[in-house]
Amino acid sequence: MSTTKLITVKISGNDEVAPGHFVLKVESPEIAPLPQPGQFVHIKCGDEKGIILRRPISFYKIEGKTLFFLYKVIGKGTGILKMRVSGEDISLLGPLGRGFWFRANGKKKIIIAGGVGIAPFPFLISEMISKAKINPRDIVLIYGAKKKEFLIGLDEFRKTGISLYPSTDDGSEGFKGTTAELLSNLRKEGRLKGGDYFGCGPGIMMKGIVEITKKWGERVQVSLEERMGCGVGACLSCVKKINGKYLRICTDGPVFWGDEVEW
Ligand SMILES: Cc1cc2nc3c(=O)[nH]c(=O)nc-3n(C[C@H](O)[C@H](O)[C@H](O)COP(=O)(O)OP(=O)(O)OC[C@H]3O[C@@H](n4cnc5c(N)ncnc54)[C@H](O)[C@@H]3O)c2cc1C
Ligand code: FES
Repeated sequence: MSTTKLITVKISGNDEVAPGHFVLKVESPEIAPLPQPGQFVHIKCGDEKGIILRRPISFYKIEGKTLFFLYKVIGKGTGILKMRVSGEDISLLGPLGRGFWFRANGKKKIIIAGGVGIAPFPFLISEMISKAKINPRDIVLIYGAKKKEFLIGLDEFRKTGISLYPSTDDGSEGFKGTTAELLSNLRKEGRLKGGDYFGCGPGIMMKGIVEITKKWGERVQVSLEERMGCGVGACLSCVKKINGKYLRICTDGPVFWGDEVEW
């Protein structure tokens, strides 16, 4: 069980890894041993005109005491975050939320990521291999983006020994088409029977993969995004109807069973 910390840490890198996508690196021996894959931190991006800008960002990778966060620049908060440089201090609140559930059970682990929805998966894959002792050959990653230049970390994924299936809208890398189409094709080819499914990406993509996997009698864990205020369950700004109840994405999630989400 992880313990949440509010902590100021040192930035050790903040580099653009694809157009409009950055990896923030910070040093935190206090937080590094705590997170579960799929959990996130609330990052204080900056302090402009007294507005406290905390934004939720998933754990991307952890190496020793170094935490990595992959983020896409969207608006004010991430626009300020991309200006931060090595050596500066930054405030983190985390780990927060409930992450992905996984164990070695003989089933393939099938991960579907769209765009910056790849963010929680390097950490998930690394924990599946190192902690749950899942054979990398039993992990399948279907990773889609608009075009090749937005597919981040392909070489690193290949080095882990997992089965990687990239897709792009324009066919510049891997399958030409959507992750949902690729998922269906792989199933038809008999490569994905009886798996544990994990998804993160745009709402429309996740809704699509939930509908497809439902037809196969399979369930998929999805990581949801919702606008957040406090990040700790107090303000109710992140509620969503799930399985007939209003749940808080920040504390009851962000990971839920896709078939229980009212899309
Ligand atoms: C649990 C969780 C994990 C996330 N992990 C990542 C990650 O690893 N990498 C990444 O790039 N993005 C991630 N996001 C989305 C990220 O938090 C938003 O893109 C970011 O908050 C946008 O802030 P902004 O100020 O730049 O944009 P603005 O549009 O200016 O934001 C205005 C408000 O909307 C909220 N908001 C805008 N877009 C989103 C969104 N898609 N999801 C949630 N809130 C949003 C902001 O938090 C803020 O309150 C995650 C979201 C959640 C809920
Ligand atoms: S962000 Fe405040 S309750 Fe979820």
